[in-house]
Amino acid sequence: MAVKKIKEDLYLINTLHWERRLFDELIPLPEGTTYNAYLIKGKSKTALIDTTDTLKVEEFLSDLKSIGINRIDYIISNHAEQDHSGAIPAVLNLFPESIVVTNEKCAELLKTHLQIPQDKFMVIGEGDTIDLGGKTLKFIMTPWVHWPETQTTLLLEDKIAFTCDFFGSHLPTTEFTSDGTPELYTAAKRYYAEIMAPFRNMIPKNIEKIENFSPDMICPSHGPIYTNPQFIINAYKDWSSNKVENLVAILYVSMHHSVERAVRFLEQKLIDEGVNVKVFNLTVADTGEIAMALIDIATLIIATPTVLASAHPLTVYYTYLANALRPKTKYLAIINSYGWGGKTVDDLKNIFSNFKGEIIDVISFKGLPDQNAYESLEKLAKAIGEKHRSDGLIKN
Ligand code: FEO
Repeated sequence: MAVKKIKEDLYLINTLHWERRLFDELIPLPEGTTYNAYLIKGKSKTALIDTTDTLKVEEFLSDLKSIGINRIDYIISNHAEQDHSGAIPAVLNLFPESIVVTNEKCAELLKTHLQIPQDKFMVIGEGDTIDLGGKTLKFIMTPWVHWPETQTTLLLEDKIAFTCDFFGSHLPTTEFTSDGTPELYTAAKRYYAEIMAPFRNMIPKNIEKIENFSPDMICPSHGPIYTNPQFIINAYKDWSSNKVENLVAILYVSMHHSVERAVRFLEQKLIDEGVNVKVFNLTVADTGEIAMALIDIATLIIATPTVLASAHPLTVYYTYLANALRPKTKYLAIINSYGWGGKTVDDLKNIFSNFKGEIIDVISFKGLPDQNAYESLEKLAKAIGEKHRSDGLIKN
């Protein structure tokens, strides 16, 4: 836990959760995470923007008290998910005069998830403002980054945007602010890939709203504060665009090295074609690395053995996840080694129902890859090379 004065009358209350290794029981956190709350003191009123995770309430209250405030008038809730709203009931309890300020959808979710009573809410809408005395908060709706109720709070006089999850990163650091480092870029990309990517179509409109404000700082509720907002705005523009790279990701499982032989052969043939490749053995792969690859790749290849009459469960899991993340991937191929039958390929196609691109090929072989399989794999590499070339992804 840490309190950091960002500027006069603006404090960051930073819950540093170094040891957390999983978020939503799904997303790996190699370095842990932070939950950022912000306290703003006006001449007449005090506002708290977001709080912390339900796991860290006690520490949060202790940090809040350490700032020396004797009242909180407004608890601004930019997002109802419990990693930011978890301490709202405790803050309401500690400062009974305070009221939760948020949009109607968020209020509904807070009532549902935290059982905050109706009379503790002040409901605001697009463009509404609150005067704290020399400091004005303005609310803009930034839906679906990443829940339907997400909003951004602007501090007008200081030109600061409090964006909650939007632009966040799971990167705990006591440097607290950053003008943009490669480490932060990667952490923010990982975060985008895991959390925001399914809502890619909603991102540009929300970026535009923030950019129109020309903020001097972006204060997210995870990771460092951006003192150079264009760093993360430009990154989001890039990630949410239709742009893909000359890159193939091969997600594979191999039980007895049959699939692996095909994958290794294909990997070399793709390299020969001038196509870049990332290979993920799903038994040891990092979900975040796969999610990040799905932001960039033009082509995805899923390679699996048949087991229990369908795809290996790990392949099923990652195909399901890829489907949920809705990658902008243009081309797909499936490789399958089977023993005596099964419906592996049909099952995978059904699971990947959000994929609207082109299936370049499906290559199935019995047991080890035979001559026909190797010829098909070579043809597949050539076809991918041609697609990437005709799309202008291969420069030479
Ligand atoms: Fe950081 Fe959607 O919560």
